Amino acid sequence: MIDARDVRKRFGALEVLKGVSLAVAPGERVALLGRSGSGKSTFLRCLNGLESIDGGALTVGGIDLAARSPDLKALRRKVGIVFQSYNLFPHLNVEQNVTLAQRKVLKRSAEEAARVAGEVLTEVGLADKLGAYPSELSGGQQQRVAIARSLALSPALMLFDEITSALDPELIGEVVGVLERLARNGDITMVLVTHQLGFARSISTRVVFMHQGLILEDGPTETVLNAPQTAEFKGFLSAVLT
Ligand SMILES: Nc1ncnc2c1ncn2[C@@H]1O[C@H](COP(=O)(O)OP(=O)(O)OP(=O)(O)O)[C@@H](O)[C@H]1O
Ligand SMILES: [Mg+2]
Repeated sequence: MIDARDVRKRFGALEVLKGVSLAVAPGERVALLGRSGSGKSTFLRCLNGLESIDGGALTVGGIDLAARSPDLKALRRKVGIVFQSYNLFPHLNVEQNVTLAQRKVLKRSAEEAARVAGEVLTEVGLADKLGAYPSELSGGQQQRVAIARSLALSPALMLFDEITSALDPELIGEVVGVLERLARNGDITMVLVTHQLGFARSISTRVVFMHQGLILEDGPTETVLNAPQTAEFKGFLSAVLT
């Protein structure tokens, strides 16, 4: 699903990704951990074609992102991304937020898009909020709408960038619950950036630790979390645990 080899990305003089190599098979769920500024969001944005890469090789869902003009339209049909800020359209209700991309990206009819919206909103527990506007929803509900909007496109790969970070503690559980259900279904490949180890443990099959633009640790979730190899990851773990 993902084949990154020696991926490099710079912003001006700052090299943010210094040779990231990561191969992810279909069905894997990867938790991407690392300190603030280590390059996690930048890497996700490269995977989704929101940033171009400056070096190395990168294919996602079979699409070559190192090509001169990558097929970003095809990529949008395969890869969904959900951010910390939900980015819902404030002037559209829940159903319209979930049908819009289906109509535009997948060219679905209004009827088909509405049917799928009903399905995915039921999946995230919001079937009763079709007519509500984002301002009428809690943060956790808005984030679940954002997840449903992505799911409506049936992506093969979902990228989640700190999707619980803006939420009050009592709302985190409902969003984590949605992802746990998705994970149990097991057919969506996921890369999940989070600072919550419990979240990483409950969702991921594999943990990757990024530090200063490089991957320092990579392996099965329990192995990596229980037996950190590098001083950097040991330091990270003790900082997030305290
Ligand atoms: N568009 C940009 N222009 C310039 N610098 C950028 C840009 N985007 C990111 N950076 C820089 O790249 C580095 C990595 O940022 P990135 O957002 O990938 O880190 P992160 O690991 O996601 O951190 P956090 O945990 O705080 O979200 C940072 O030093 C950041 O300031
Ligand atoms: Mg980030």
